[in-house]
Amino acid sequence: MRLHYRLCDRFGLTIPIVQAPTASIAGPELAAAVSAAGGLGSLGSTWTSSDEIDAFVRGLRWLGSPFMVNYALSFVPASLDAALNAGAPVVGFSWGLPDRPVVDSVRAANALMMIQVGSVEGARMAEDAGADAVICQGQEAGGHVQSTTPLRVLLEHVRNELRAETIVIAAGGLTTGEDIAAAILAGADGVMLGTRFVATQESRAHLDYKAALCDVGEDETSLTVCFDGGWSHSPHRVLRNSSLKAWEAAGCPPPGARPGEGETVALSALGEPILRYDSAAPRQGMQGSVTEMALYAGTGVHNITSVPPAAEVLRSLWSDALAAMRGAGTIG
Ligand SMILES: Cc1cc2nc3c(=O)[nH]c(=O)nc-3n(C[C@H](O)[C@H](O)[C@H](O)COP(=O)(O)O)c2cc1C
Repeated sequence: MRLHYRLCDRFGLTIPIVQAPTASIAGPELAAAVSAAGGLGSLGSTWTSSDEIDAFVRGLRWLGSPFMVNYALSFVPASLDAALNAGAPVVGFSWGLPDRPVVDSVRAANALMMIQVGSVEGARMAEDAGADAVICQGQEAGGHVQSTTPLRVLLEHVRNELRAETIVIAAGGLTTGEDIAAAILAGADGVMLGTRFVATQESRAHLDYKAALCDVGEDETSLTVCFDGGWSHSPHRVLRNSSLKAWEAAGCPPPGARPGEGETVALSALGEPILRYDSAAPRQGMQGSVTEMALYAGTGVHNITSVPPAAEVLRSLWSDALAAMRGAGTIG
């Protein structure tokens, strides 16, 4: 039996792998590399200005391949209209559901819509809102985590609950072809990977952050509320670095009573101070002790040992996944 990838048919892909919108670390270079290689590249657009998103979207459209702009709805999607006017073919939402006028504007622009959720109830609401694909995020995910449920359990429940024709994408802790095969065999139509694509040549992550991702063992991530500056009350999964360990050793005190609070740990590319506990991740151009910042990573990070070009990562993940599925006797 040959598996049929509805995600590819619906979104115009050749490989059913989505590169997650990892905030401003997922810039146009990464999205272009993944989309040109047949996956779905994405731009983390929540904090991108309208002028910038206009330039990014118009530039990416030259590729002729689909790509996604993403908005975390804990914040106002300020540049969404600009992205749609520039012709973004796919819009992704997370951390909330788009309201009716927003859905209408996506539809009026002829864009497809993905919604990332962390629960069965969220998945049902995303389906009702008209999502063309529902992304199921398990608690293994890197970055800000909506879910309190392991991916495998959530995926099974969501698959049982949603209509058979609804496209479901699995996300959270996936870094190998075997992980991808397991998710597809468990009923996903495709997968979305964030941490794996942060550690690629084209990502805008700081080199020290990429190096840190390649140098961890198992169980070296934590789901925490430590790095809340700029995005409070939202759990996030990060590497266990010195800032996190010092905060835990102090008994996880609340804001205002945390060790080293108010200290500048790094400077942005524009020279602005980045304080300890800020939610920003280290990007290229930042200077200082960037490994004391939030180093977002999913539970699969221990399988990452190098920083190849994104197209190479995409192709080898998919060929390993196909081999694993062949081994499981599900593909001819
Ligand atoms: C550095 C980083 C930044 C992220 N930023 C966002 C974001 O801005 N919006 C969003 O919807 N998800 C964001 N995520 C979560 C991803 O959408 C996705 O759920 C996650 O990367 C999947 O888990 P994995 O990293 O283990 O592959 C981020 C993840 C990482 C690692």
